[in-house]
Amino acid sequence: MNVLGIETSCDETSVAVIAGDKLKANLISSQDFHVNYGGVVPELSSRAHLQMIIPLVKKALAESQIELHEIDLITATAGPGLIGALLVGLTFGKGLALSLDKPFVPVNHIEGHIFSGFLMNKKPEFPYLCLVVSGGHTLLLLVKNDVEIVKLGSTIDDAAGEAFDKVSKMLGLGYPGGPLIQKNAENGNPSKIQFPVAQCKKKYDYSFSGVKTSVLRYLQENYGDSKNVIAEDIPDIAASFQASVVKALTQKVNLAVDEFNPKSISLVGGVAANRAIRNAMSEIADNYNKKFVVPDLQFCGDNAAMIAYRGKKLYEIGKRFELSVNAFPGMPEDAFVEPTF
Ligand code: KG4
Ligand code: ZN
Repeated sequence: MNVLGIETSCDETSVAVIAGDKLKANLISSQDFHVNYGGVVPELSSRAHLQMIIPLVKKALAESQIELHEIDLITATAGPGLIGALLVGLTFGKGLALSLDKPFVPVNHIEGHIFSGFLMNKKPEFPYLCLVVSGGHTLLLLVKNDVEIVKLGSTIDDAAGEAFDKVSKMLGLGYPGGPLIQKNAENGNPSKIQFPVAQCKKKYDYSFSGVKTSVLRYLQENYGDSKNVIAEDIPDIAASFQASVVKALTQKVNLAVDEFNPKSISLVGGVAANRAIRNAMSEIADNYNKKFVVPDLQFCGDNAAMIAYRGKKLYEIGKRFELSVNAFPGMPEDAFVEPTF
């Protein structure tokens, strides 16, 4: 089966082709111009998706040496994400499916991330503990099989990536913040400043607004205003902030491995590109003698390969969808099975 996957939930236009079990193309066009605005401007994002979608589909098919009429299934992200951005990929995918008279599968973006480890040679084994860390979501999940995903916890305020982006902005580093914080942190001392690690009422929930506020307070107390931060102090601040995020993420992972004894551990989402987080998670897996699966960088950030993989799997297990399916900007209520404990 040849599958065309489309992803346009935020600021990456991506098109992928999977033929049989082989990923033939995974093209990602990042909308770098948002850097000039300090964050994603939704309307500009939608327009850029409109410009890129057709050229990318043509290029992905050419790279895969597959003709459009040879595509058997079309999949696209339906949400969560920016509504205008989602609509571009979703309506394009539905229109293409209608014109080719081929089935269409809408995919939940977070489910795309959750199963992105399957794009690797070393694949997760069920049940696996999955830490999803992206710009919009922080979730700890127990993935029992292809359809049962138990939500153990999630962030009660900011997502991990959002905290990276906001702290980067405070330090005047720019957008997106994650890679810039990581780069600075590599030259800093992570023990220099003790930023807090939030405790939440629910055992597996996360909170990142406290650490963000304490970085702001630290900057105000030491420099009068965050704008006056001394450049040579930035690496220590970045490293200490990153260390606090790593600790917050990993301490819940340790608790969950103890409680649920999963076969594998997987780290996914845009923030999974972070070396300190990858290393800390890999260490946990080693300590517990668990298989650790983290996708290659091209599958961590938003990409259509994960959407094509998930759409194909849903189709294979018998899920069928009407073309009348709508885009959903938020997390749909029934995206995850509720915890059973
Ligand atoms: O999954 P993703 O591409 O988009 C969403 O679905 O949200 O994640 C984007 C997030 C951004 O907040 C970005 O700052 C963060 O991933 N990120 C990182 C790194 N690379 C990207 N965060 C920390 N360290 C990185 N190296
Ligand atoms: Zn994402």
